[in-house]
Amino acid sequence: MEVSHTLKWWQKDIIYQVYPRSFKDSTGNGIGDLPGIIEKADYFKWLGVKAVWLSPVYPSPMKDFGYDISDYRAIHPTLGTMENLDHLLHELHKREIKLIMDLVPNHTSDAHEWFMEARKSKDNPKRDWYIWADPSDDGGPPNNWRSEFGGSAWELDSHTGQYYCHSFLKEQPDLNWYNPEVREAMWDVMRFWLKKGVDGFRVDVLWYLIKDKLLRNNPPNPEWHEGMPDHDKLIAAFSNDQPEVHDVVEEMRRVVDEFTDRLIIGEIYLPVDKLVMYYGKEPNAGVHLPFNFHLVSTEWDAQQINQLVSTYEGALPAEGWPNWVLGNHDKARIKARIGKDQLFNAALLLLTLRGTPTMYYGDEIGMEDVEIPSEKIQDPREFREPGIGVGRDPQRTPMQWDGSKNAGFSNDEPWLPVGSDYQTNNVKNLSDKPHELLLFYRKLIALRQKEPALHGGSYHPVGVKDQLMCYKRQYKETAFIIALNMGNTDISFTHSNPIHGVVEIASNHKRVGEKIKSPLHVKGNEGLLIRIS
Ligand code: GLC
Repeated sequence: MEVSHTLKWWQKDIIYQVYPRSFKDSTGNGIGDLPGIIEKADYFKWLGVKAVWLSPVYPSPMKDFGYDISDYRAIHPTLGTMENLDHLLHELHKREIKLIMDLVPNHTSDAHEWFMEARKSKDNPKRDWYIWADPSDDGGPPNNWRSEFGGSAWELDSHTGQYYCHSFLKEQPDLNWYNPEVREAMWDVMRFWLKKGVDGFRVDVLWYLIKDKLLRNNPPNPEWHEGMPDHDKLIAAFSNDQPEVHDVVEEMRRVVDEFTDRLIIGEIYLPVDKLVMYYGKEPNAGVHLPFNFHLVSTEWDAQQINQLVSTYEGALPAEGWPNWVLGNHDKARIKARIGKDQLFNAALLLLTLRGTPTMYYGDEIGMEDVEIPSEKIQDPREFREPGIGVGRDPQRTPMQWDGSKNAGFSNDEPWLPVGSDYQTNNVKNLSDKPHELLLFYRKLIALRQKEPALHGGSYHPVGVKDQLMCYKRQYKETAFIIALNMGNTDISFTHSNPIHGVVEIASNHKRVGEKIKSPLHVKGNEGLLIRIS
């Protein structure tokens, strides 16, 4: 049987992340919305992506741009209505595209009714839904935990005299996942969306759900120095990734498995050995895809990336399906990290490694990190720790649709500035330029979807030489070699098993169709996909 028939949609399809505020504004208020995304449904189809993940669209005071949710079962009025959401789901499904919602179970907004109840009194029935503790002996916070966004992870509630825990902003109080009522409430939220027909969830900060019951202090991080985020002063030994989290994940998995063919992706920033634990103690006991962010954190260096892929492949449990990510709304854009000349190679890597790729909107046209003038800053991270590079506005700027005012994103001034290159670097302009990045992505996506060797085949490292990384993907008789020169000097590579084949896709279009005979010559910054059988 063809491998493609035995694979699930989330194994062979490409996921595309939409940051709703920045995708397309239909109302002219400068903020993207659900009707705007519906307008662009044909774009997803045209590009060839088969699943869309929406960052949160729920009611929220927007302290953390939607990751502070005040109602899990409704839509933020600025972003649209529940009818719009239903319509989007319908339009995507009509085009055989899945919809993945963001689920934020670690914390609510402080404006959520659960928290407003909880903070009323120590004996309120909702009190134990959050993490409360008495002040330490000196009257300060109960322990030394730091918020991811800087400062103590504890806020004093003067009304009841206790502190509550917040791993992020003080307006994002952490739920107490030891409490079975919290679990049930969140499982019901999931069922609400799954019954609607959404195809799965990307689960926010999954590894944070359970904290040490004894609230022990975290040890200091000896590697911390001035200029690093405040949070990194300590090693998070007790404030996240606790063993009991895996029982919670197992329960969560059972909830999605009440429905057919749904998916959970977990947001988890951990080293590979800890990350792969989230596949579960046994098959189907964990999340389907623990997000693998290691391409985001690894230096763009052939030796290091080759090593990363081997380490990751080697660490996966037998039934664990790999996945890869180049960027998201929290990280600098791939272009800012590796430079323009390597963008074709980044596309080749993401779309030809073994495992599900997740793309970040705009990376397919090479959007840049946009410089944000101080009066335009929005992200609370930047306000809290200015100037050390933790602000996330630069990678959240409006999608560049065309060369008209505001890049065709909105009729009014966008909530974040548009990239200065929008007049040339936009979807409309690039959609008829066969040698530019956008159509390169489209062609590569189409080939990946068509070829079982690329979406489901085996992965074999072939070799690394200086900045050249070579690997093979194979299914039955069909095999491809991918050769990526991650540096800017030309490299010739001879393999004990000579490489013979025809270039099918290349960063430099002039090489397409070229017959390859050993040794393999790859120019600086060049990437080749060679069909060898
Ligand atoms: C996740 C989100 C990020 C958010 C944080 C708190 O890391 O991706 O944007 O600020 O969680 O919810």
